[in-house]
Amino acid sequence: MRGAVAFSESIISILFTLSITAANAGKHHFREAPKFYNSPKCPSIHYTTTPATGAAAAEARICSDNAVHVAMTLDASYLRGSMAAILSVLQHSSCPENIIFHFVASAAANTSHLKLTIANAFPYLQFNIYPFDDSAVAGLISTSIRAALDCPLNYARNYLAELLPKCVQKAVYLDSDLVLVDDISKLAATPLGNEAVLAAPEYCNANFTSYFTLTFWSNPSLSLTFANRKPCYFNTGVMVIDLERWRAGDYTTKIVEWMELQKRMRIYELGSLPPFLLVFAGNIAPVDHQWNQHGLGGDNFRGLCRDLHPGPVSLLHWSGKGKPWARLDANRPCPLDALWAPYDLLQTPYLLDS
Ligand SMILES: *[C@@H]1O[C@H](CO)[C@@H](O)[C@H](O)[C@H]1NC(C)=O
Ligand SMILES: *[C@@H]1O[C@H](CO)[C@@H](O)[C@H](O)[C@H]1NC(C)=O
Repeated sequence: MRGAVAFSESIISILFTLSITAANAGKHHFREAPKFYNSPKCPSIHYTTTPATGAAAAEARICSDNAVHVAMTLDASYLRGSMAAILSVLQHSSCPENIIFHFVASAAANTSHLKLTIANAFPYLQFNIYPFDDSAVAGLISTSIRAALDCPLNYARNYLAELLPKCVQKAVYLDSDLVLVDDISKLAATPLGNEAVLAAPEYCNANFTSYFTLTFWSNPSLSLTFANRKPCYFNTGVMVIDLERWRAGDYTTKIVEWMELQKRMRIYELGSLPPFLLVFAGNIAPVDHQWNQHGLGGDNFRGLCRDLHPGPVSLLHWSGKGKPWARLDANRPCPLDALWAPYDLLQTPYLLDS
């Protein structure tokens, strides 16, 4: 019952958030995005039997089968990226009013402030913010080659099934350093088949060996994890997650178990990705590569500019060290950063104080 109470409280907080008018949103000033409307063909996410307003209506909307759920993290350093990502999702959607955003933020962050910032920039957005207890995961993190990958919030994607309301059966998880240039409902509709828990673009030519240490490969009880599987690399920045199957299989615990092992014996070098590969690689549903044109941030060591992979583009992902907002501010953009700039909602990009 406690869960139900927390759920309706959070619904009420959405309603309050949406009625808050412009107030001091702090040091980041984002301009207000336009309102985006459903095309006439869109299914309704309102149930006719529930009231049009109030907490019951908000809950009915969240639980509607016609809603598209998008999960992202929110933190101060990537906020500008998140705002651009949200705008890009709405702008390219044919049913933007059916999209419900689920934001995970550090429990230590000022959630009211984040709510205000989002609501000011997107007054019509349906969203909820879930405080994430960083300390729970902080003890599980071992240092990786890039400090940003060690941020506890980076691991929040592992806890979505617990954080989001139980009636949400499926969600698209998106990193904050990307923009969509296509309709997210196509990605959300990826068939997961009879068994897959998640769907993502797979890269079977990547050298899988290099994601794990010699300690891992030389220990048969560990390396046998991949026996009878054709493990392929996938990037965890864009995933369609079947939250019902995730909950049923308790995959959060399975991932945490690998993280606990990593603390005791180093079996991989990167941050949150390898446990996902250990649990899911070879068993995911495929998504066309156009939905994650990744690596645009450049390599982790020299920050060189990268080009698009051949083929169509539905989503541009600045994974890697360089972020387009930082390079644009520094007046040293990579050519493809020009594709991110139109989604930048920051009002005074050159007065950023951190
Ligand atoms: C949190 O943010 C709200 C809204 O911006 C603000 O009124 C409040 O003072 C902030 N609280 C703290 C502890 O900074
Ligand atoms: C894959 O990576 C491993 C270790 O990093 C290396 O020893 C091996 O030669 C690589 N295989 C190929 C086909 O490049």
